[in-house]
Amino acid sequence: MKFARFLASSVAALALSACMQSGTLPETGASTLASAEATPAAGVADPAIWPEYDYPVTVPAQDAAMIAGLLSRMTLEEKIGQLVQADLCCVTPEDVRRYNLGSILVGGNSGPDGNDLAPAPDWLAAADAFYAESVDTSDGGVGVPIIWGTDAVHGHSNIIGATIFPHNIGLGAARDVGLIERIGAATAREIRVTGQEWTFAPTVAVPQDFRWGRSYEGYSSNPELVASYVGAMVRGLQGPPNNQDLLSGPYVIASTKHFLADGGTDGGVDQGDSSISEVDLRDIHGLPYGPAIAEGVATVMVSFSSWQGVKMTGNRSLVTDVLKDRFDFGGFVVSDWNAHGQVAGCTNESCPQALMAGIDMYMAPDTWRDIYDDLLERARGGEIPMERIDEAVTRILEVKARLGLFEAGAPSTRPLAGDYDLLGAAEHRAIAREAVRKSLVLLRNDGPLPLASGSRLLVAGDGADDIARQSGGWTLSWQGTGIDNSHFPGATSIWSALDAAMEEGGGTAELSPDGSFTTRPDAAVVVFGERPYAEFQGDRATLALDAELTGPYETMRNLQSQGIPVIALMITGRPLYVNPALNTADAFVVAWLPGSEGGGVADVLVGDAEGAPRYDFSGKLPAAWPLTPDMEDGALFDYGYGLTYSSPARTWQELPLSDTASASDSRVWFADGLPAAAWSLHVTDPSVPTSQIRITTVPATALDGRVSVTAVNHVVQEGARRFDIASGDAAMSLSTFNPIDITREANADILLLFTLKVDEAPESAAIAMGAASGEMVENAVELPATGQFVRYGLPLRCLRDKGLDMTSVQAPFVLETEGGGDVSLAEVRLGMDAERVLPCS
Ligand code: BGC
Ligand code: BGC
Repeated sequence: MKFARFLASSVAALALSACMQSGTLPETGASTLASAEATPAAGVADPAIWPEYDYPVTVPAQDAAMIAGLLSRMTLEEKIGQLVQADLCCVTPEDVRRYNLGSILVGGNSGPDGNDLAPAPDWLAAADAFYAESVDTSDGGVGVPIIWGTDAVHGHSNIIGATIFPHNIGLGAARDVGLIERIGAATAREIRVTGQEWTFAPTVAVPQDFRWGRSYEGYSSNPELVASYVGAMVRGLQGPPNNQDLLSGPYVIASTKHFLADGGTDGGVDQGDSSISEVDLRDIHGLPYGPAIAEGVATVMVSFSSWQGVKMTGNRSLVTDVLKDRFDFGGFVVSDWNAHGQVAGCTNESCPQALMAGIDMYMAPDTWRDIYDDLLERARGGEIPMERIDEAVTRILEVKARLGLFEAGAPSTRPLAGDYDLLGAAEHRAIAREAVRKSLVLLRNDGPLPLASGSRLLVAGDGADDIARQSGGWTLSWQGTGIDNSHFPGATSIWSALDAAMEEGGGTAELSPDGSFTTRPDAAVVVFGERPYAEFQGDRATLALDAELTGPYETMRNLQSQGIPVIALMITGRPLYVNPALNTADAFVVAWLPGSEGGGVADVLVGDAEGAPRYDFSGKLPAAWPLTPDMEDGALFDYGYGLTYSSPARTWQELPLSDTASASDSRVWFADGLPAAAWSLHVTDPSVPTSQIRITTVPATALDGRVSVTAVNHVVQEGARRFDIASGDAAMSLSTFNPIDITREANADILLLFTLKVDEAPESAAIAMGAASGEMVENAVELPATGQFVRYGLPLRCLRDKGLDMTSVQAPFVLETEGGGDVSLAEVRLGMDAERVLPCS
């Protein structure tokens, strides 16, 4: 569109007026960089203060000879190919043959033929297709078989029908090492059904600040507890460390991640910086790597985050000197999703620094070809020493040999492959159900638990019958969004489990999300808590449950005021401030993210017909529970807290309440027709920057009466703003005084979501974004008049690829229209759950 340039100047004007108001100079990209620059000693580890371990895996002489022979026959091109891992989104089997790629992965939103919800047989077929091309030597190449990595982080969680185990935080509550090994073994078996060889698990993060959105991927805030689990999980997945032929048994290779201090970033910012001392780095975050190495973990994934300002992916002192040399780690090191692009001096397309720091394999999902070309060119030019390349390739080939990959044949011919009954097999579900039982933590019980199964139960709350919600992120889709109960064949929601348990005892259960009922119940379970999220989508500014998720508190109060005992059942990835619920409910249970087996919840909550327990609570808090949203006043319940049915009765002390009205997802910029705090809505004539007006109250008119703005209903009364544009060009924009950095989101393919109703289509339209520098880019979009609210999604990548500086965005949503139109806007935010994804123009 012709007018992006003009909008740019109004964005710049806005930035300028903001800094004039505050009396400060805008922070430029350059000064940000300079301040992040590490002083020489910062971020450099001293290996001598780290423990020494012994990697237990030895390479048998015949493997060593085979690998040496292979290496001597490989061309430089073939060696470089082994160092590169591509994502399924962006690579074909033919590419794998041509470039001799070492590995492929399936990212959270990828799948065979572009379908992340593809049925299991399609995954096995894809594994065969990639394998076949990898070993094809018709072009004269060596044909090294490929390995396929997947985020099987709580069961084979990308696959429909697989057993979904509780996320790690719930396992941390269970305090059962043996259980962890059995979960690992069951997960490995399910992975083998669909032909993959490698899981990016276990996450051994030791989260220290639960505002971090990945906290639930860690077992506990306590390094000893995490360390006590890691070896068991690795053994469950890989089998014993001296096992030389994993693929002939029911095993896969594991990857402990993310090295190091992913859970130790300041403020819990995902991919952020950890400014802690080296001693804390070692004693808190380093501790779990010892048992992983003692179990011969085959791979380690390096963290996106930095330590003392230096990105881990470029930190030679930690990756090579500590992990490989001091710890004696003998497997190979893989980087995280384009994480190399964040290393100082690197881009997504070029980063020899990562290899030199000790990364053996680049996770270069969509950038693999550039990384390949770049490494090759630099190796040819002598900039990268051959020894480093050979060492990396050797490590990768040794792991492949340990798998037995060179003899294993096509994935579909290996043990367990295609045995689809093993996905969600009864014996695996039984382990998951046991894990759920053991993970539940009882924080309060004034008497209503256990429920007598001969009685009448009401099950309320919006999370009661929602398996996606009880499973959380990294389930079928990356953020765990866009899926419903129909995607979980064989799974049991909490509601259906409670219903079945009550029926068994001769009682009844009624499902009523809003808590209304026809027959008065004897007790009510109200299921509430977090909605699924994964990386950085889950980061929060405080430890309060998002305000928009607290609706069930009202339901609890209503039921309570009618004298019905209330059991609050919380689904959550982390301890959160929920004092209103703790005060109101007569009993309070934390279910964490239990996964596909809701039966485990009913096992413990529902007793026999008379109400004697069938199973007791044994779960203990894996991290302290906050008293306030910011933990300033310490813990309400300490690490390790958890009641049982025999805990002595105690009188509840009313908890203090904090104001959490503003606690919400910081990625929502416009909701219910209103800009979020610190955001503003403008209407501008792009060719007359001075025409810009800020819309505060409605009705309003703008652009000399050409645009009228009114409130219309959507979900709630006046939940949207309608722009009736009589003629000409107009731009509706959302901007913030504090520019936002959405680089990470763009890298991860997050969508800019906007919920829009078009009653009269403009002649043409575009979505634009403005950087703080004044730079503006736009993407033409088709917005047909449907008369319905539609949640559109535009990949942030579209705007990034057009050159926008994503580190400092001031106006992340600008809707430009030409020739008039009639549109209503309800919501603008970042996320994945679009109803219609718009293409890059
Ligand atoms: C995550 C890793 C994950 C990888 C592949 C990254 O963004 O940080 O934990 O294994 O993507 O999906
Ligand atoms: C992928 C995830 C990955 C993330 C990186 C997403 O697009 O699906 O697997 O972890 O990007 O941040």
